[in-house]
Amino acid sequence: MRIGPLTLQSNLFLSPLAGYTNLPFRLTVREVGGLGLATTDLVNARSLLEKNPKAFKLIETSPADRPLAVQLFGSVPGEMRDAALYLESLGVASVDINMGCPVRKVCRVGGGSAMMTEHDKTAVLVKGMVDAVKIPVTAKMRLGWDDQSITAPDLARALEDVGVAAIFIHGRTREQGFAGTINLSGIRSVVQAVKTIPVIGNGDVTTPQAAKKMLNDTGCAGVSIGRGAFYNPWIFQHTLHYLSTGELLPEPRFEDRVRVMCGHLDLMVEVFGEELGCRMFRKVAPWYAKRFGPATEFNKRVVQISSKAEFHEGLENYLRWRRQFLDENGQLMPRFEPAPLVASFMQEPAAARREHIPVPQGPVEVW
Ligand SMILES: Cc1cc2nc3c(=O)[nH]c(=O)nc-3n(C[C@H](O)[C@H](O)[C@H](O)COP(=O)(O)O)c2cc1C
Repeated sequence: MRIGPLTLQSNLFLSPLAGYTNLPFRLTVREVGGLGLATTDLVNARSLLEKNPKAFKLIETSPADRPLAVQLFGSVPGEMRDAALYLESLGVASVDINMGCPVRKVCRVGGGSAMMTEHDKTAVLVKGMVDAVKIPVTAKMRLGWDDQSITAPDLARALEDVGVAAIFIHGRTREQGFAGTINLSGIRSVVQAVKTIPVIGNGDVTTPQAAKKMLNDTGCAGVSIGRGAFYNPWIFQHTLHYLSTGELLPEPRFEDRVRVMCGHLDLMVEVFGEELGCRMFRKVAPWYAKRFGPATEFNKRVVQISSKAEFHEGLENYLRWRRQFLDENGQLMPRFEPAPLVASFMQEPAAARREHIPVPQGPVEVW
């Protein structure tokens, strides 16, 4: 798969998830395998130019963290251009622009959505970035305000005309927030609107089968996965395998989930220091635990950790507690196994409403 001059190993992408897609998470997912391109959390262009330490931390990377896209957020053309130039000078593989939701009505909320109030003005801003750098510039957007105003196809076409190398499209409207079903025909309308650039579909992909359905039903060139990777860092490797062989690999074993989770914590501590790394991990570990089966005893402890020792003590305690749910072979008894993950667009609408993927709190208007 190609994005402009960039050749990727797979057509699977890690979506930007503010507060989560930091260096440790990206390295964790990359080590498991299957990922084509990872993206940082969104980074304010002005903060980057002002050399704000928090913005710098967001773009912290390492040689194993390649290829990497940085997602920029901002509405001042000169700042967005200069930030893109700066990122290019650092060796970043591509720059993604956060467009929030591409509609007039949301211009009040500022940031990405505000820059979408005028397609022409946005096209000028984006052209300024595209003309300044050699690396690809991509854009990420939602479908539109609501089902009556699906504006993404027009915007995607306008951006292709000014040289954007790919479009990432979350198949929901702004009105939907994170609720309801992903609109595959909406994604398809964006695919059909552009002439040659790849469109990457996004939203609710939690299984290899869901990725395949999104590719088949929309004609998109790739799939971007966010929350599905929280649950399951294996999703990229398993999806790539499924797409190329048709074979579904077995779910990762509990021991492997624990091993990868512990490696993730080690990286958090390396990158953020012990106390901050552990504190940040309090909101990460429960996502792993969603696939552990009964996990109340784990979650209770992990949300209080400030050191690796506390984490491991809690984990040991949990492993002892969890024995009551195991059979004589040490396997979780079937009745305690977590329900299989099913993407919203793979099930009946009522079930999709009931079982939507949890969304951590945050500014939905820029996601
Ligand atoms: C916690 C969280 C943070 C997010 N942060 C960003 C962000 O920084 N930039 C962005 O474009 N989208 C952001 N999103 C949206 C995701 O990239 C993605 O479009 C959305 O979650 C749907 O994909 P998924 O169902 O695979 O998670 C965020 C979503 C969540 C849940």
